[in-house]
Amino acid sequence: MLQNIRGTKDIFAPEIDKWHFLEQKIDKVTALFGYTELRSPIFEKTEVFSRSIGDNTDIVNKEMYTFIDKGGESVTLRPEMTAALVRSVIQNNLVYDLSSLRLWYLGPFFRYERPQKGRLRQFHQIGAECISSPYPESDAEVIMLSNYLINEFGIEDFSLEINSLGNEISRENYKKALTEYLNKHQDDLSFDSRNRLISNPLRVLDSKDQKDIVITENAPNILEYLDKESRSHFDTVLSILENAGIGYNLQPKLVRGLDYYSHTVFEFKSSALGAQDAFGGGGRYNSLFEQLGGKSTPAVGFAMGVERLILILDSLNKFPKLGGNCDIYIVSSGESTTDYCNEIALKLRNKNYKVLTDLQRRSFKAQMREADKLKAKFCILVGEDELTANTVTIKNLSIGEQVVIKFDLLDTIDF
Ligand code: HAM
Repeated sequence: MLQNIRGTKDIFAPEIDKWHFLEQKIDKVTALFGYTELRSPIFEKTEVFSRSIGDNTDIVNKEMYTFIDKGGESVTLRPEMTAALVRSVIQNNLVYDLSSLRLWYLGPFFRYERPQKGRLRQFHQIGAECISSPYPESDAEVIMLSNYLINEFGIEDFSLEINSLGNEISRENYKKALTEYLNKHQDDLSFDSRNRLISNPLRVLDSKDQKDIVITENAPNILEYLDKESRSHFDTVLSILENAGIGYNLQPKLVRGLDYYSHTVFEFKSSALGAQDAFGGGGRYNSLFEQLGGKSTPAVGFAMGVERLILILDSLNKFPKLGGNCDIYIVSSGESTTDYCNEIALKLRNKNYKVLTDLQRRSFKAQMREADKLKAKFCILVGEDELTANTVTIKNLSIGEQVVIKFDLLDTIDF
């Protein structure tokens, strides 16, 4: 039997109801904050990602689905949206005056990772990006938007971890101090961290290796290396969050796995998730537009993993019990009544009832059983008698009573 690709999932009823539940909330909240949706292709020229996410990141190094197409071009299934969105904003010239451009997205993303709970090779993100404001108000806005979404989903027990990577000068100064410190402990670092020490020392702070964690406990603190401009930007973000009643944990070791960040970075974590405990993350990326050939444009955004949100909501039992797929089941006596049944069904669907008819030419009894299985509230029975008399027999399945009425009066009944 042909199987799906490892790390991908088929989503169907009743699981799909959970997606619809989240999608409705996402539509509502993004509209409340004035964000409009961007849908862009799920594959891009490889350069879009290799030039932005960073050559030394796991995503670019090991996880991208990259292939040469029949025209000889290297293309990549998008591993994330921010770089693709920036490409789209530059190409379509969407930033043209001083107003902020607010965009959101929802869709599939692809990373060749080792599948486990909450980690897939095709996963989905809901994200939002606020483009063209250099000010801390916009960092705070995207965090307030994500916080609003999380509340709207009904997740109460989560933490917001936040840090600042500062501007380029602060970051370079910090990198020097960190490298100096780590060099002294080089022999005790894990193999990966020793490599990162050369390619991207900040990522050593992210290591999950126990020995690395102990060493980095006493590493220099990035927040102490922020210059005045970076410090003031970050302090304002924090104070807006405090005044908005949003709690946070300062996390000076938070560096994120993508290289385009500067200033504010953040992650949302939930203990309901286990090893992959981050269900969202984001930050500011002031150099990305220039890196991708646009004019310098500051921006900030976040993304959350939909599958991880579903895991959290499942574990908290937060999904509402949704109604069934059938209000009324039309039980018919056979082919001669097909057109009449379709007429009845159309009339009722036009009144917003979910109506099903039998497509298997089953017996009356089997159709009644099917109506029961589908938890229909009513059956409409249609036989030769009803067809001739232009009537229908309505049976209330919960109390078992039935009445006969004229077809023309169907409109007047509330089921
Ligand atoms: P990210 O932290 O790489 O950030 O991904 C964001 C979220 O996507 C993660 O917190 C996680 O919930 C979900 N996610 C990532 N990889 C997987 C996977 N293999 N399986 C399941 N879920 C996954 C970004 O992608 C940035 N573009 C976020 C951003 C937007 N920064 C600025 N704007």
